[in-house]
Amino acid sequence: MSSRIIPVQPFDYVVFGATGDLTRRKLIPALYHRFKDAQFDEQSRIIGVSRTKLTDAEFQKAARDSIEQFVEPEYRDAATIDRFIGCFSYVANDVTNEANWGDLSKKLRDDPKIIRAFYLAIAPDLFGPTCEYIQKKKYYRRDARVVIEKPLGHDLASSMAINDAVSKIFKEDQVYRIDHYLGKETVQNLLALRFANILFEPIWNSAHIDHVQITVAESVGAGTRGYYDESGALRDMVQNHIIQLLCLVAMEPPASDDANALRDEKLKVLRSLKPVTGADVARATVRGQYRAGSVDGAAVASYQDELPAEKKGSHTETFVALKAEIENWRWSGVPFYIRTGKRLPSRASEIVIQFRHIPHSIFDHAEGAPRANTLVIRIQPDEGVKLFLMIKDPGPGGMRLREVPLNLSFAEAFAERTPEAYERLLLDVVRGQQTLFMRRDELEAAWTWIDPIRDAWNASPDAPQQYMSGTWGPTAAIALIERDGRTWHEDGN
Ligand code: BG6
Repeated sequence: MSSRIIPVQPFDYVVFGATGDLTRRKLIPALYHRFKDAQFDEQSRIIGVSRTKLTDAEFQKAARDSIEQFVEPEYRDAATIDRFIGCFSYVANDVTNEANWGDLSKKLRDDPKIIRAFYLAIAPDLFGPTCEYIQKKKYYRRDARVVIEKPLGHDLASSMAINDAVSKIFKEDQVYRIDHYLGKETVQNLLALRFANILFEPIWNSAHIDHVQITVAESVGAGTRGYYDESGALRDMVQNHIIQLLCLVAMEPPASDDANALRDEKLKVLRSLKPVTGADVARATVRGQYRAGSVDGAAVASYQDELPAEKKGSHTETFVALKAEIENWRWSGVPFYIRTGKRLPSRASEIVIQFRHIPHSIFDHAEGAPRANTLVIRIQPDEGVKLFLMIKDPGPGGMRLREVPLNLSFAEAFAERTPEAYERLLLDVVRGQQTLFMRRDELEAAWTWIDPIRDAWNASPDAPQQYMSGTWGPTAAIALIERDGRTWHEDGN
């Protein structure tokens, strides 16, 4: 694998929120893998910043623990870990209080060849003050990057406020808004599948595609994250990850892989989404909340039981299904059915492109009716692509038709480990490559589409429909698609 690795320029990565969960679970392990593959070396620095008073050595110990806990044993190598840990240092700092701002100037290098990036793994209401201090303390450079991550607001207005605060200091070409789904290998493969092959693009339209399904299912529950109850599945998963997937499926071919060429096309999709408002919300959306049940053979509690006393009775949805429509020439009349939820039977995310039936069959009934072709892009786990085709059932006894998948399993085809999304994204920041990050107008267009759905739900006295943990959501989600004479894809092959 290392032969294909192109090292990046040395960097100073300042991570605000360095003792938090995201840093521990995702950022440190991701950087470790990139270091291990020699994509960067000891010339680079990772500077942790957080309120907790820690010495460099204590922070290095915390980084070591995170590797022990979140990097698979076969990739842990004592000598590499020691070298990697040497890149870490720490500054105690309270971003809410100017008097307690630590001194980063000794850690940051002035050399313009050293890339400077600030990762704000902190609450969004601290983005503005942090950016201002960065400037005030003269840590800002015109070529510095700032990385921010959701929740980027809870509606259009709050999202604009966050973007305004950041953009007072950093220009749009310096802002990297992470949606980690865009860093997933299979999501990038969608671009390769569509635009590096001649096969699909001529039939990628309403003349040949009946509908599209996007499912992002999780078997885990909402856990005890206070944030989730404020957010719910629509804002937590649909507004960002799923809408991004929808854009990649639906966009026109960009002229190049230039960040703005691609993001311009995604934006056009977002602006073509048919608004779901007023009475349409009840027809086109379903929201659910899990009851107790059993997942993977283990009994699990209901969402309500997991909530602290003061939140009992919450109407927050842990499941959403909806029908989206894109009002443009290519997709007119092709619904996009979306569903996502917690405590579903398994962790399974996929995009299903359901093609239309052949216009005329030359086979009679005894031979079996040809089924419409289906393309399934499996995002996780078991990443791969399956194209369901009709073939002749092998053997004598006449012509009988059978559906079989052409199956490209990435695990079988490539021996290499699949990198985590953050590995790609963290280093794209260093490279100055914004293609896989959301532009401000995209984010705001997504909120513009989401807000009326949320508003209609808030205005309704109804609670989300209950579904038993370990099932595919409320029955209304099945009715949503079956009303249109279609069914959710179930992969029996
Ligand atoms: C996060 C959501 O953005 O994505 C979580 O906040 C969710 O609720 C997670 O579990 C899913 O990510 P992945 O990579 O495990 O599919």
